[in-house]
Amino acid sequence: MVCLHRQTQRMKILHNMAASAVAPPLDLAQTQKVRSALDGLTPAQLQWVSGYAAGLAARNETLPSAIAETATDPSNTMTILYGSQTGNGRAIAEELKQSAVSRGFAVRLFSLADYRPANIKRETLISLVVSTHGEGDPPDDAELFHEFLLSGKAPPLKQLKYSVLALGDSSYVNFCQTGRDLDARLSELGAARFVPTIECDLDYDETVAAWADDVLEALPKVLESVPSVPRLHAVKRPAVYNRHRPFEAVVLTNQKITGANSTKDVRHIELSLEDSGLIYEPGDSLAVIADNPPQLVEELLETLDFSGSEEVEVQGAAFTIRDALRAKLEITVPNLGFLKAY
Ligand SMILES: Cc1cc2nc3c(=O)[nH]c(=O)nc-3n(C[C@H](O)[C@H](O)[C@H](O)COP(=O)(O)O)c2cc1C
Repeated sequence: MVCLHRQTQRMKILHNMAASAVAPPLDLAQTQKVRSALDGLTPAQLQWVSGYAAGLAARNETLPSAIAETATDPSNTMTILYGSQTGNGRAIAEELKQSAVSRGFAVRLFSLADYRPANIKRETLISLVVSTHGEGDPPDDAELFHEFLLSGKAPPLKQLKYSVLALGDSSYVNFCQTGRDLDARLSELGAARFVPTIECDLDYDETVAAWADDVLEALPKVLESVPSVPRLHAVKRPAVYNRHRPFEAVVLTNQKITGANSTKDVRHIELSLEDSGLIYEPGDSLAVIADNPPQLVEELLETLDFSGSEEVEVQGAAFTIRDALRAKLEITVPNLGFLKAY
């Protein structure tokens, strides 16, 4: 864990103040609804939504609320995801969507290129159509999703029911490898197959038709049984973090990016802001509040002849001297105040 708080550039604060002088046209409840509906969309999806809303406004139309609910609530919706290099998988996914919609089911369809992998934790029902290319590699549009799901960053998926249709060609050594990888990993993360995974060779029409029938037949029952997943930030008020109340962020990645023989130790660090409500933009800075090295704390205690459990007061709060030296006081650089007092 590291602690951090958000510092925003002065320029940005001034900009925000100017913007807030114009009254927003939405009330608080509407603003929260819009935020929760847009939460997690990719830039391309946001642009589409923006154009869609502009089109409605131009025609002076409003969206019926029932449709809005269905479209934004993944808990009663089947999400169809596809990864496809030459179009076979996309056609199968689109056909499945049409069949499901014509039977009255709510469906969302995404190319994996347009799908934010971390959103999978909010899904309850997925049908995944994915081919294999290269030498057992995912198609280009599925690369990021494949990488994310197989990495340690993938979340537990106990809420998820899924089915995989893997496309391939049995003349390749790694037949349907991508579908196999994703199927195995989804299961490992706790998701449950609602229809068995299917592997399709080049002559796939009949196999695909049988799989689609199974999916459509299973839908009424599965949609009834899927639990509703609480949506992030839907009703939570964003917490206020500052230097006295920093957000505890989980370190997702800490990787040395300098060469093995380099004397410099430069790191690529990824921190999770999940559930913080914090949004960083280019130009914002981030402060990391680190503890002092435990060995240095122990050396100081020994030199000063303290056991470590003595109580001291720092900025009006009580700590043991060990905790104060570890987390509250600067002990690595002698500052002016210290030298004067000494
Ligand atoms: C260059 C190339 C490499 C392929 N490599 C594999 C492979 O390693 N394993 C496999 O099972 N199929 C492989 N295939 C077959 C495709 O997965 C198959 O044609 C599939 O139907 C393509 O679906 P798509 O159009 O949705 O990408 C390969 C196809 C091509 C053109």
